[in-house]
Amino acid sequence: MADIDILVLYYSTHGSTETMAKKIARGVEEIDGVQARLRTVPKVSPQTEASEPAVPEQGAPYAVPADLVECEGLIMGSPTHFGNMASPLKYFLDSTSGEWMGGRLIGKPAAVFTATGSHHGGQEATLLTMMVPLLHHGMMLLGLPYSERALMETTTGGSPYGASHTSSSRDNVLSDHESELCRALGRRVAATALKLKG
Ligand SMILES: Cc1cc2nc3c(=O)[nH]c(=O)nc-3n(C[C@H](O)[C@H](O)[C@H](O)COP(=O)(O)O)c2cc1C
Repeated sequence: MADIDILVLYYSTHGSTETMAKKIARGVEEIDGVQARLRTVPKVSPQTEASEPAVPEQGAPYAVPADLVECEGLIMGSPTHFGNMASPLKYFLDSTSGEWMGGRLIGKPAAVFTATGSHHGGQEATLLTMMVPLLHHGMMLLGLPYSERALMETTTGGSPYGASHTSSSRDNVLSDHESELCRALGRRVAATALKLKG
């Protein structure tokens, strides 16, 4: 079967969402024939395009809208900022009206993940609202099923709406349950994309 890519697209200021993205990418690549394409987005400022180099000095490359089209699925992550996705990710999504007009993402599987500073700081609100622009794009949203034991057992992050992490200690270490659910989300989107590709 032909190899396919899944775009793992994230923004992270302090590294916890990035840690999740890497774990999710591992889950994606546990499915034979699927690679993870890890991409981030730059911070926004009044001079975004002028002030950022095209390629960051370290870490994942910056995403371009073509990544969304070339990949067979999307797993998108953001820190929770005031109960919502962070503006750099929204800024990137707002540059994809051409892809929306062309219907280029219709029918592709997608999933979301987030990190918060506090346990009840809005993970589920962020996950649900991150899905909205992806639904506008016609993507097919996937969550995590309760057949994942970690979802029932977790006392840290993890939600049927997507992977999540509570970063109160600021050490960017995921709990075992958070880590398992990140990998499960990666595997689920990868396996679904492969099936849809036929
Ligand atoms: C502007 C801003 C708003 C935030 N809002 C929330 C919030 O609503 N709830 C919460 O629990 N944490 C909030 N945080 C904390 C971050 O979600 C948390 O530190 C997260 O782990 C950061 O992810 P990162 O390490 O990938 O940058 C906020 C942080 C910033 C900078």
